[in-house]
Amino acid sequence: MSGVLDGRTALVTGGASGIGRAIAAAFTAAGARVVVLDRDPDAARAAASDLGASGSVAADVSDEEAVRAAVAAAEEQLGRTDVLVNAAGLLTQAPLVEMSLAQWQQTIDVDLTGVFLLCRHVVPGMVARGDGRVINIASQLAIKGGESLTHYSAAKAGVLGLTKALALEVARSGVLVNAIAPGPVETPLVAGISEDWKRAKRAELPLGRFGRPEEVAPTAVLLASSPGGDLYVGQTLGPNSGDVMP
Ligand SMILES: NC(=O)c1ccc[n+]([C@@H]2O[C@H](COP(=O)([O-])OP(=O)(O)OC[C@H]3O[C@@H](n4cnc5c(N)ncnc54)[C@H](O)[C@@H]3O)[C@@H](O)[C@H]2O)c1
Repeated sequence: MSGVLDGRTALVTGGASGIGRAIAAAFTAAGARVVVLDRDPDAARAAASDLGASGSVAADVSDEEAVRAAVAAAEEQLGRTDVLVNAAGLLTQAPLVEMSLAQWQQTIDVDLTGVFLLCRHVVPGMVARGDGRVINIASQLAIKGGESLTHYSAAKAGVLGLTKALALEVARSGVLVNAIAPGPVETPLVAGISEDWKRAKRAELPLGRFGRPEEVAPTAVLLASSPGGDLYVGQTLGPNSGDVMP
């Protein structure tokens, strides 16, 4: 079966669950060879097997040595990385006045520095080949903020800044860097958020409901594909149930 990503290779972080998993599935269905990266090796392996992906690697995205080794292992399986999707992320909640430095730092390390580290170890190969796509999963909270989410909102706003700055650095080398800022999506990430918060959030949304991971994944396929994604440089696409209209 032919697809818009035939012949392309992709590394998807956070590919064992939620949005990353849906993107890995959509890329595989579109013809790409995909390696799933996640923190837990068993979960990454199981997801790769369920999705018919080419393989899996395990790393904590905030650990540079682990990232370096995982990228090398993934590229041994794939030959090269044409598309990097940074979807690994975590979310905790606390008002700033109660937030410890450790809680702040953990979110910045995983949700922002993790994106830097994956880009740092994958993008040089893309630049050398004159071809590549990077898709960073941010959040609409980067734009509008969220109560008890200063750390998460700051990390995701950082991802948008990183996306634009890196897009400027590498577009002329044939590497296109963009972000997706989803609204609330039903995944294990939001399962732990308080019911009150979720009820209030649903009421705010013009669509009146959270999204599903498979409703976000086609935006990543578009950005990864050619000619569909060819003109997107440093953009933030917003499958967000109408939560933000920038
Ligand atoms: N669900 C939402 O409402 C929503 C909205 C906007 C943005 N996002 C973003 O989408 C991305 C995916 O989130 P999701 O909702 O699918 O969550 P999820 O919890 O279902 O998936 C996140 C994945 O990232 C992995 N992960 C977490 N920390 C890691 C680390 N240090 N190293 C490697 N892997 C790690 C987890 O193991 C998990 O498989 C995240 O960046 C999240 O911030 C989610």
